[in-house]
Amino acid sequence: MRRFTPFAILAAVGLALAGCGTSNEPSDDTSTGAENTPEETTAAATDEAETPDDSTEAGGSDVSGDVEVFTWWTAGSEALGLEALQGVLAAKYPDVNFINGGVTGGGGSAKELLQTRLQANQPPDSFQVHAGKEAQDYIDAGQVTDVSALYEEFGLTDVFPQDLLDMLTQDGKIYTIPSNVHRANVLWASVPALEQAGIDPQATTYASVDDFIADLQKIQDSTDLIPLSIGGTWTQVHLLECVLIAELGPEAYLGLFDGTTDWAGSEVGGALEKFGTLIGFTNDDRDQYDWEPASQMVVDGTAVFNVMGDWVPALLDSTGLVDGTDYVWAPAPGTDGVYDFLADSFSLAQGAPHPDGAKAWLDVISSADGQEAFNKVKGSIPARTDLDLAALGFSDYQQQAAQSFATDAIVGSIQHGAAATIQQGNATNDAVSKFTTSGSTDLETFQSELAAAYAG
Ligand code: GAL
Repeated sequence: MRRFTPFAILAAVGLALAGCGTSNEPSDDTSTGAENTPEETTAAATDEAETPDDSTEAGGSDVSGDVEVFTWWTAGSEALGLEALQGVLAAKYPDVNFINGGVTGGGGSAKELLQTRLQANQPPDSFQVHAGKEAQDYIDAGQVTDVSALYEEFGLTDVFPQDLLDMLTQDGKIYTIPSNVHRANVLWASVPALEQAGIDPQATTYASVDDFIADLQKIQDSTDLIPLSIGGTWTQVHLLECVLIAELGPEAYLGLFDGTTDWAGSEVGGALEKFGTLIGFTNDDRDQYDWEPASQMVVDGTAVFNVMGDWVPALLDSTGLVDGTDYVWAPAPGTDGVYDFLADSFSLAQGAPHPDGAKAWLDVISSADGQEAFNKVKGSIPARTDLDLAALGFSDYQQQAAQSFATDAIVGSIQHGAAATIQQGNATNDAVSKFTTSGSTDLETFQSELAAAYAG
């Protein structure tokens, strides 16, 4: 299968840039990086802030004051990841006081609350935003500042993959700095539950959604287990995008975002039907949960499967379960060879009350120490390419994920903002919620609402 680089994501997200790399190796072409660097005069908001003084030396900084950081990492491994970053902040910037402005909501309700604050001109200093189309919304609304100069200052232009830099660049400016890269299309399964259902734990790389459905049926017919655990609307959108990738293939999936694949066409219609069938195998109480309780059902062995991003292993491992023995993972059914990409990135908010603190934070999340500490706990892979994951003791899963990121076809996540704008994401969530809460039968309305969400 040919690799769809973030260049293809660029086409999908409509960022008009010349992506040229084909892997997540740092680019040798420093001139390309230079082209992407805007004049320092454009970094108006950051200019007022004092430059962190030799911030690479622990304790060598004279930056002081608060920094309020907004994320939706409020529990479990996500909160631990944030804490790990706080630790690096405390070591590098001992006089900067971290204020955790996080709210729960797995990206959905959290983003709404963030928007309320931004519109009321009460921004945090830095907030979590997904690289790609989602960031575009904040750029267009003037809610984030140009941090290109910080890429130079922190020496980041050579350590992030050129493709990712290209994806982050808009009109020669970069507005956020990535902390990590996640894969969304992963199937997690409980080994005891699989065995109870008579399914070989080594045979969960399903070639198609149909093959997967056949095993879900088998589980339903022969056990009391939940065949496929899932949470509320955003986790259902997450499943939907995995089904679309599987049924359309990566190229046609990407075409959904540049108008070359018809949302109203029969291929999408077929995918939506299969999505509805999958929802029929999920827990009825799904709408009351965020991702974590749904994945916890696989930890507990009350559910066999869960489709979720690779923030799940941190949860699985934290409970003492062992990869390959207690749980297994595979690409989401029908998506082997495809990496459904998303990256968490951080802004310096327009009107940030503490721009110095925000700069210190951005230094920390992009530093080698920060990316090592955070990603080890969070389950993602560093966005930086200069870390030796094996030598640093990253998990087998993470080493394999990094390998997939370097070699698989790459597509962007809808739910996690790489391929869809916030408006499109919200409309997708509304359509999915309406469909699944009304029995997953009104395919016609579902498809027309999705087509409307991405029209124009
Ligand atoms: C994603 C985010 C991940 C993880 C996940 C679940 O949107 O990018 O880092 O936090 O939500 O909350």
